[in-house]
Amino acid sequence: MTVSSPPAVSSERIGNVLVAKIDNPPVNALSRAVRAGLMDALHRLETDGNATGLVIAAGGRMFSAGADIDEFNGEIQQPFLGDVTNSLERSSKPVIAAIHGTALGGGLEVALACHYRIAAGGTVFGLPEVRLGTLPGSGGIVRLPRLVGIDQALAMIAEGRRIGTEEALSAGLIDRVASGDLMDECIALLDEIAGTAPPRTGERPFPVFDTERQAAARAALAKKYRGQEAPQKAVDLLAMASQTPFDDALRLEHEACRALLSTAQSRAMRHLFKAEREAGKIAGVAKDAAARPIDRVGIVGTGTMGRGIAVTCLDAGFQVALIGRSEKSAKLAREAISNIYASVVRRGRLNEQQVGTRLAQLEIAYSLDRLGEADLVIETISEDIDAKRTVISAIDAVVPDHTIMVTNTSFLDIEQLARATKRPANFAGMHFFNPANLLKLVENVRTEAASDDVLVTLMAFAKRLGKTAVMVGPSDGFVANRMLSKRTREALFLLQEGATPQQIDRVLTEFGFPVGPLALADMAGLDILAATRKARAATMSKREREADIIERLVADGRLGQKSGAGYYAYGDGRNPQPDPAVETLLAAYRAERGIEARTIPDDEVRERCVFAIINEGAKLLEEGVVARPGDIDVLWTKGLGFPAHLGGPMHYAEEIGLPHVRTALAGYAAAIGDEYFKPAQLIEQRADGCGRFG
Ligand code: COA
Repeated sequence: MTVSSPPAVSSERIGNVLVAKIDNPPVNALSRAVRAGLMDALHRLETDGNATGLVIAAGGRMFSAGADIDEFNGEIQQPFLGDVTNSLERSSKPVIAAIHGTALGGGLEVALACHYRIAAGGTVFGLPEVRLGTLPGSGGIVRLPRLVGIDQALAMIAEGRRIGTEEALSAGLIDRVASGDLMDECIALLDEIAGTAPPRTGERPFPVFDTERQAAARAALAKKYRGQEAPQKAVDLLAMASQTPFDDALRLEHEACRALLSTAQSRAMRHLFKAEREAGKIAGVAKDAAARPIDRVGIVGTGTMGRGIAVTCLDAGFQVALIGRSEKSAKLAREAISNIYASVVRRGRLNEQQVGTRLAQLEIAYSLDRLGEADLVIETISEDIDAKRTVISAIDAVVPDHTIMVTNTSFLDIEQLARATKRPANFAGMHFFNPANLLKLVENVRTEAASDDVLVTLMAFAKRLGKTAVMVGPSDGFVANRMLSKRTREALFLLQEGATPQQIDRVLTEFGFPVGPLALADMAGLDILAATRKARAATMSKREREADIIERLVADGRLGQKSGAGYYAYGDGRNPQPDPAVETLLAAYRAERGIEARTIPDDEVRERCVFAIINEGAKLLEEGVVARPGDIDVLWTKGLGFPAHLGGPMHYAEEIGLPHVRTALAGYAAAIGDEYFKPAQLIEQRADGCGRFG
């Protein structure tokens, strides 16, 4: 006997009403089977003389997350979603969408084509296609503005803005919010409207979208989504739809969406969508490993990191014990955290009462005994291996057996730190980035002995903090800083050879980074970078040690933004201005080292900075420090400013071709004579093989 799978759309008659229910877990994606099922339901509606109307509903936790993203990689099979939405709209009998949970993308397009929309409270609506480098292609662009106007449609289509039920109701996107049972209210509405002609969205007038408004939208979107094609195309298509007969506009919308799907940008953004979800799953961990409950968090160390992490935990609703070294450090931490929240209130993000609730969850003390029954303790003291080992042993002695301990080191040997505890299975790393309350990235660091459920707990904990987390292994600087340091080093070498800070930063911002590496160094503080260089002097190459430009800037009192001057001059603001004094300093440096400045082509600047990152990423994959190339891409696009529409460094390398990357790297290795440009073995192998890292 074969067991057949349940239909993707089941339909049943309730009285005279036909109800079609989408059932395609986990997110009711509109796969071919669902589209065909909806067409069948419509056919049944038209042919069943007793059926007076159709309700389209869905099972599970949402109405629909839209088109099945997996289908985008191949030939999409008929019926197309546009055929479904057009047939729905043209139905001679009324069709109502019963929406709950989430209606995104194609899911919302189905609802827009129905004659009425009723939603359960708490439903979220959106057209997120632009975040996948494409746009709605089944009537979303042509229908939505007819219901909600141009401004709301622009925000939803060109920016992927999601809205809640109340806003959807006031904007005119939905007709009613169900106060009771959603299905009962849909059936009641069908009774109410019996005998009236179904109102069709396509018969409403399209709002005016004048050229001035178009130009303003293009300019704003170009600034906000630099280099992205889809937001600009959204303006083109809205302008087109405002002047084109409905059916022609539908066809043009569909063609444009299909064309966008085959762009490199859309491939890159779809890759990231999948990679972000993959990153949450830890490679090699037992399937049944479950996250442990975390309620109370202890944080040891009241410096910048400790305070930032404390605020992050409070914002996420945890009870926090923050432990300093002395009464004085505890007092300073309390003041600093109050100041962080005062500025949040000033900016209107929270009100006094909300801040009060958060601060009531915070205890600041200066004895480790106050860690009490913490489920998780994060050690954040300064980066000194002996001091950290001492503190970790001391924490170990006071917290209960179940407590998970993590260290927030950014480059120390984590296995050595693990040996300072009696609970290595309950010990791992969490590398937050400064400012921890604002930056959305965390590297969770696995140690040899860490148990699977501890690792799963840390991923779940980071998610509750609203962070994107990637699991990495021990390595000097883990993944983010190890890769970033190669770009920083390359920027220094380019300065040595003749580039200016403004050339390097311009080339990389044109590539798509929001800030160039040298303006970024000014933000981080050149004194901090000089201290890091000092700490690592023993492992640096001779050339790197001799590239002491940062030290020279610091010696001149140029510490970066905080001192009003670094690689750039800042005047009173934060806007970097080229500074002739830096030119003079660089010229003196080169003269002293006997280097003749040369004009470096922009392509070389870009390739050396970006390919140095890619080469290091390949080495990290080779060493097994990170499990998947997609993890590196998530880390760079979520946390380090790599443009999402290029998909992250590893995807970008595959897209431009690993043979090309290999040849360029080998060329720089030969020309510059530096070992580190030698292509990673993985690049060598994959350039000759499948052309992919994964
Ligand atoms: N098509 C195919 N698969 C989808 C999907 C879609 N439109 N949307 C989500 N999924 C998959 C995810 O890849 C994930 O798969 P996995 O379990 O194998 O990793 C699973 O559904 C659950 O999604 P996830 O994002 O982990 O769940 P969530 O509850 O956190 O979020 C959504 C649910 C719907 C809000 C979120 O998935 C989302 O925003 N999806 C994208 C919607 C979209 O862009 N639609 C337009 C398509 S053009």
